[in-house]
Amino acid sequence: MRNTFGNVLTVTLFGESHGPEIGAVLDGLAPGMTVSEERIRKLLSLRRPAGAISTARAEADEFRIVSGVFEGRTTGTPLTILIPNTNTKSTDYEKTRFLPRPGHADYTATCKYHGFEDYRGGGHFSGRLTAALVAAGGILLPALEKKGIRIGTHIASLGGGEEFLSDRPFSAGNEELEKEIDALSSRAFPVLDLTMEAPMKERILAAKEALDSVGGILETAVTGVPAGLGEPWFDTLEGALSHALFSIPAVKGVEFGRAFTEVLLPGSAYNDAFYAVSNPDGEDSGKTVKTPEKGQIPPESGFIVRTKTNHNGGVNGGITNGMPLVFRTAVKPTPSIMREQETVDIKTGENALLHISGRHDPAIIHRARVVVDCMSAMVLADFLSLKYGTDYLRD
Ligand SMILES: Cc1cc2nc3c(=O)[nH]c(=O)nc-3n(C[C@H](O)[C@H](O)[C@H](O)COP(=O)(O)O)c2cc1C
Repeated sequence: MRNTFGNVLTVTLFGESHGPEIGAVLDGLAPGMTVSEERIRKLLSLRRPAGAISTARAEADEFRIVSGVFEGRTTGTPLTILIPNTNTKSTDYEKTRFLPRPGHADYTATCKYHGFEDYRGGGHFSGRLTAALVAAGGILLPALEKKGIRIGTHIASLGGGEEFLSDRPFSAGNEELEKEIDALSSRAFPVLDLTMEAPMKERILAAKEALDSVGGILETAVTGVPAGLGEPWFDTLEGALSHALFSIPAVKGVEFGRAFTEVLLPGSAYNDAFYAVSNPDGEDSGKTVKTPEKGQIPPESGFIVRTKTNHNGGVNGGITNGMPLVFRTAVKPTPSIMREQETVDIKTGENALLHISGRHDPAIIHRARVVVDCMSAMVLADFLSLKYGTDYLRD
C-alpha cells in the first residue's frame, strides 16, 4: 500500500482529485539546493489544461511549500508541497457512482479498497495528482541542469485517425539534441517540427467532436547523464525509469531506443559500435577538450567512449553508458469519453450503459509530457544520490 517511490531520494504522493488538497513529500534531498518557485510555476503551466484540446477543469495550482525550505534553499529535511483543488464538480460523479468507467481505475479501485475509496473524479487515481509530481520535479530539474543533465519530451506520434501523425525524431548529435530539449522546455505543445502542431491539435479536436479521445507516443531524451548509473540486477536504470513511468496514469508502454522494432534487426546492425573521442564536440569545433566527468571510464584518461548508434537508448546491463538516454512512453486515449459505453452496475450486477457527463481531456499526451520529464528527473536524482551521495545535488 505504499505511495512512495525511490531509494535514497524518495517522493510520497497523496491526495484525491476532489479532496481539499493534493501534494508530495520529497525526502533525502541535498541541503542547499536553490528552490525556484518561478520554475515550479512554469512547469505546472505546461501540465495545466489549455484551450479546447484539454479538460475544462481549470486549476490555478497555487502551490505552497510548507516544510523543507528555508530562505530559498532546501534544508535537507522532508520538503512538503501542497496544491489545493479549487475547481471540482463532484455531482458529475454521483450519478455514475456504481457504473465504473471502462479503461479507468474505478472498478479496480473498488476491488482493492472495497468501496471505501473516494470515487469522485477518479479519487487517488486521477491525473490531477500528477500536478504534485510536476511541482516536485520543479525542485529536481534545475538541480540536474546544474550538473549538465537536460531532459526533454515531445509527442513522437499521435493516433486517433487512419494514419498516425508523427513529429520528426530527436537528432542523434548531442549538441543538436541539447538545443531541441531547450526549445521544448518553453513549448506549450511539445513538438520538434512546428508544422505538426496544427494537425495534431486538429486531430484532438476532431476526436472530441466525435465524442472520442486519442492517445500517442512520447519520446524523451536525456543528455549529460554520466556513465555508470544503475544497480544490477533488479534496480536497473531501465527498470527504475519504467517503474516511475508506469506510475503515470494512462501510460501503457515503455521502450528504450526503438526496442519494439529495432530488436528485430540482426545483431550486427543493432549493436552500438564503440569509438573513443578526446573531444565530444568534434575535432574542428575549436572548443576545449572536455575531460571525462565523474563516473566516466577510465576517469584518468583524456578520452570518452561513445557509441556510433544508440539503439540501446543509453543503457547497457541496466547501467548508463554515457550516451543520451532515449526512451518512448505509450500514453493511451483518455478513458472517459462522452460516447455511450458498456459497463456493469457493480451494485446490482446487471449490465448497464454509461453516459459520462464530467469534464475530461480528449487527449492526455500533451499534458503528460512534463510529467514524464519530472518522473525521469526523480529517478536520475535518486540514482545520482545513490552513487555519489545525497550532497551531490547541492548547488
Ligand atoms: C495529466 C493527465 C490527465 C488525465 N486526464 C484524464 C481525464 O480527463 N479523464 C480520464 O478519464 N482520464 C484521465 N487521465 C488518465 C486516468 O487517470 C487513467 O487512465 C486512469 O487512472 C487509469 O489508469 P491507467 O490508464 O494507467 O490504467 C489523465 C492522466 C494524466 C496523466
